[in-house]
Amino acid sequence: MSGALSGALSGALSGALSTQQPAYDLKAWRGRMPLLARMIPMNNCSQAPQTDATRAAAERYLDTWNRQGMDWDAWMAEAQLAKRAFAALINASVDEIAVFSSVSEATSAIASALDFTAGRATVVASEAEFPTIGHVWLAQEPRGAQMTWVPVRDGLVHTADYDAAITGDTAIVSACHGFYMNGGTQDLAALAARAHAAGALLYVDAYQTLGAVPVDVKALDVDFLASGNLKYLMGVPGIAFMYVKRDLIERLRPTVTGWFGRANPFAFDAKTLDWSNTASRFDSGTPPIMNAYIARAGMELIHGIGVGAIRDWHTVLAQRLIDGGRARGLTLHGTTDIAHKTANTAFVVPDSHAVEMAMRKRGVLPSARGSVIRLAPHFYNTIDDVDAALDAVVGALGDTGAL
Ligand SMILES: Cc1ncc(COP(=O)(O)O)c(C=O)c1O
Repeated sequence: MSGALSGALSGALSGALSTQQPAYDLKAWRGRMPLLARMIPMNNCSQAPQTDATRAAAERYLDTWNRQGMDWDAWMAEAQLAKRAFAALINASVDEIAVFSSVSEATSAIASALDFTAGRATVVASEAEFPTIGHVWLAQEPRGAQMTWVPVRDGLVHTADYDAAITGDTAIVSACHGFYMNGGTQDLAALAARAHAAGALLYVDAYQTLGAVPVDVKALDVDFLASGNLKYLMGVPGIAFMYVKRDLIERLRPTVTGWFGRANPFAFDAKTLDWSNTASRFDSGTPPIMNAYIARAGMELIHGIGVGAIRDWHTVLAQRLIDGGRARGLTLHGTTDIAHKTANTAFVVPDSHAVEMAMRKRGVLPSARGSVIRLAPHFYNTIDDVDAALDAVVGALGDTGAL
């Protein structure tokens, strides 16, 4: 498509939408992210930009380390405060939250606590799971687990496809809330109802939705929910949290464990394996302290804006991405139903890595994944950012010889 034509189309679209604004002060927030002076980040499905608050949090840790040598009381308190901030995001209580360094580790801890030889052997997972989730469950096969995969059809998982997959042999249903490829979301309440009706548990990977979509673990009735912090929670790699439903905590004993899983980690008794009666029984070693500082700052920033207000703005940006992508002749991947997707919007391209590199040269930061280029805006992005990013996709396709 010619640049003039795509410009005219985006002009017509912006006429309809340019008056729309989020419920918060977009300009003020944008001033708090230095990266925005140089690039248009649209890669929040991968890594959110740094803010003044997350940087200051990192520096707070470095300062205590530098000035006091160590301050374990304050550092432990900080890990607990990060758990509390995570709990508040999902309507859980702090003693239902465990801390890890990755979602892979959190999933492994849950998997290790399940006995696949005690009557129920099947793990039901969708093909939309991030690969690491599939890997963790596949690694349970020597422990008696058997996989049943729910297919991805037309770029999404259809809830009804779980009906044939979930049986009386199902131990656990493992479902992503958001599909990393294209932001398609799954109906967690419907999956919880299906899993529980069959006597199975529901594990949710909410990495692609927390901070972008309101989540209430009590209302949804999920059993376990994990997420890391570097995407819509505005944090860094190297920390993740997991919710464990209160009633389940004392029934589960992970074999992935360590001293922080004990009733009193500071009892220093190597010969006694007791269990914390909170979700901290899933904690293992020394928590990732510096990351906890940054993660809490990111989550508090999200709390301050409000996930509801963020979701409202995301739906505007997502619709703009869908309409603008179509107008530019791009091929969308997955659903175009805003009610069932995040703002992450994916377009099928011949060489996504080459397109990402070409877009970076054009000042836009997208995220390549397999056959698609993902544009994943967040609360700070504008409609102009979306238009510029879509123009950059078209430009990058030209640069890479794909047009
Ligand atoms: C949905 C989802 N789950 C899990 C992961 C990876 O988690 P971790 O690297 O923390 O194990 C990602 C990372 O991109 C993801 O998008």
